[in-house]
Amino acid sequence: MSNQLENYQRVWIIGASSGMGAALAEMLAQRGKEVIVSARRAEKLEALAQRSSLITPLPLDVEAPDAVAEAVSSLQTAGSLPDLTIYCAAIYEPGGMAQLDPEKARQHIGVNYLGAVSVLSALFPKLKEKGSGSIAIVSSLTSYCGLPMAALYGPTKAALASLCETIKPEFDQAGLQLQLINPGFVDTPLTEKNSFPMPFILSREEAAQRILKGLERSAFEIAFPTRMAVALGLLRRLPYGLYFRLMRRMLR
Ligand SMILES: NC(=O)c1ccc[n+]([C@@H]2O[C@H](COP(=O)([O-])OP(=O)(O)OC[C@H]3O[C@@H](n4cnc5c(N)ncnc54)[C@H](OP(=O)(O)O)[C@@H]3O)[C@@H](O)[C@H]2O)c1
Repeated sequence: MSNQLENYQRVWIIGASSGMGAALAEMLAQRGKEVIVSARRAEKLEALAQRSSLITPLPLDVEAPDAVAEAVSSLQTAGSLPDLTIYCAAIYEPGGMAQLDPEKARQHIGVNYLGAVSVLSALFPKLKEKGSGSIAIVSSLTSYCGLPMAALYGPTKAALASLCETIKPEFDQAGLQLQLINPGFVDTPLTEKNSFPMPFILSREEAAQRILKGLERSAFEIAFPTRMAVALGLLRRLPYGLYFRLMRRMLR
């Protein structure tokens, strides 16, 4: 089986100042890729760039669609359009009804979903014009079904999955690639806020390795760890009566 990562020279990681994005940046640079790293915290991106001359910071707030469009245009003007773009940016606040508040929900949708929309809409026409390119969107296994404590975050990830399923045929038609990454629990600053048990949790390096393995192949979905993906896949197929009986137990 051919390794499509070998064909990529330049990778843009959005949401690379910590967690899986930062681990991916370092691993891709170790493999000799030019890596452009974006997020809001410029100092974290600079620190990452100190670790490899192949890493270039491009600070960006994905909540500003104009800034995203400008970043894509500047990459095109410099002849540096990425072969692969990985959208990792997200915010997360755990909680259910007590945390469900319109402003917080707007913030979660703004970064996790609309940020990805800004990147996709700015990048797709340029890649189509170029005739090649790949985009990978990090969603979550949470997108499989509604889970307690994910009232703000879960719906944004389900929206990303639906969007990617919707637009994948157009990517295919344009000769471009779209992949959807669905991790389970990973030990990063994002999950530090969780006080509940996180089964099968992986380190950020293990998770980045699984993502790279998936990116080497062309399958649409990259889901891991397998046991968690299978369990949640079965859960979403249960009749609602049984499903909610299990979910009520998780609330205790
Ligand atoms: N950890 C898990 O268990 C888990 C499980 C499933 C899926 N995921 C997903 O994996 C991806 C990476 O998360 P992680 O766990 O590695 O968490 P993380 O360390 O908190 O990374 C999140 C990244 O998003 C960036 N970000 C947040 N708001 C942004 C904005 N407005 N503009 C640009 N960048 C922004 C953050 O950088 P700045 O703050 O510097 O902007 C940071 O680099 C996320 O999509 C997350 O939803 C995580």
